[in-house]
Amino acid sequence: MSTLDVTAIKADFPILSTTVRGGHRLVYLDSGATSQKPTVVLDAERNYYEQHNAAVHRGAHALAELATEDFEAARVTIAGFVGARAKDLVFTKNATESLNLVSYAFSNATALNNRGAGLIDPRFVLNPGDSIVITEMEHHANLIPWQEVCRKTGATLRWIPLTDEGRLDLTHLEDLIDHTTKVVSVVHQSNILGTINPVKMLMDRAHAVGAIGIIDGCQSVPHMPVDVHHLGADLVAWSGHKMLGPTGIGCLWGTEEILEAMPPFITGGSMIQMVEMEKSTFAPPPQKFEAGTPVVAQAVALAAGARYLEKIGMSAVADHEFELAEYTVDALNALVGVRIIGPANAHERGSAVSFVVDGLHPHDVGQVLDSRGVAVRVGHHCAWPTCRRFAVPSTTRISPYIYNDTSDIDEAIDGIVAAQEFFGVK
Ligand code: ALA
Repeated sequence: MSTLDVTAIKADFPILSTTVRGGHRLVYLDSGATSQKPTVVLDAERNYYEQHNAAVHRGAHALAELATEDFEAARVTIAGFVGARAKDLVFTKNATESLNLVSYAFSNATALNNRGAGLIDPRFVLNPGDSIVITEMEHHANLIPWQEVCRKTGATLRWIPLTDEGRLDLTHLEDLIDHTTKVVSVVHQSNILGTINPVKMLMDRAHAVGAIGIIDGCQSVPHMPVDVHHLGADLVAWSGHKMLGPTGIGCLWGTEEILEAMPPFITGGSMIQMVEMEKSTFAPPPQKFEAGTPVVAQAVALAAGARYLEKIGMSAVADHEFELAEYTVDALNALVGVRIIGPANAHERGSAVSFVVDGLHPHDVGQVLDSRGVAVRVGHHCAWPTCRRFAVPSTTRISPYIYNDTSDIDEAIDGIVAAQEFFGVK
């Protein structure tokens, strides 16, 4: 039973009291793409710039000290949100960069190793014959970086296929993740199907064959309690803007041991220990991965978002989303000519629900919904191969969050029926 006071939560998000398309109440159901921001997040960023803004980790003046304190305090808060220590949390510009940071560790290590350029941890060195395992439901951020690593190193990309229900088909898992596997990188909760994957089991399998295990937590960290230590991964990536934070900040958590061993991605100032004209040494993590002026104001604002979610309680958030998922799948299942792409029940799934309507292109569905003030995402959701697996060009996706209730889902359902009537497919 949801304990969230959605009316009070909605009032905390200024954008949700605006109207769109000729006076319609905004019904925002596109939080899988990006969440809206509460006033506390907007205020935190503004206050930082108004009161403490300075370059962090350098400069001896008062503002530099305050800005550094703000930044490192934000790291403590955001790390704590996922049960981690601050020193194991790296800030990036988004989850895509976090996953690129990791994938470049492999191609950089391989290039350095092939040139005999120092001692390289062999776990990061990829050769033809090695394999990287992902799933067929990855969004592009956890697919294309690995395709590129394979092109550069000759390693082979493998993927765990999907069942017709939109879950991982684990029948041949032991053949897919085998002695050749050096990387297993999987999504926790699918952005398009909504499926919640058995990531702990997959990470255990990765470790059983000596591979490094990575989890894309973009759609799980904002929506359910996540303790990185319970996931069993070596590295976990997620974004800030999907969990009430501003755009321009992503996170990468890693075990101390893995972060120490990984070569850096972006190099330059702030990530060094000692610099000579011929060579340099690097600072310990997380600074080793945070070259240049870091995402200070964004971190401060994201920390405010994390505190807001903590105040609600992530278990309460997950319960609320389970109810919305159940309500949405039941309502869509009841419509004639509508097919859910992904699990058609609320078991082990998040609240993002994709569907297709017989005889209608998703863009037409989206347009009718938009004309009624209902914002959903249409398209391939940056998960094009997943659409191909289900033989659909694209889908319409409802993805609610803490500020949505069943009346918002009802608005979307009414809009789908209106689209069917408008285009004469009912
Ligand atoms: N951010 C993308 C989405 O909408 C991947 O799910």
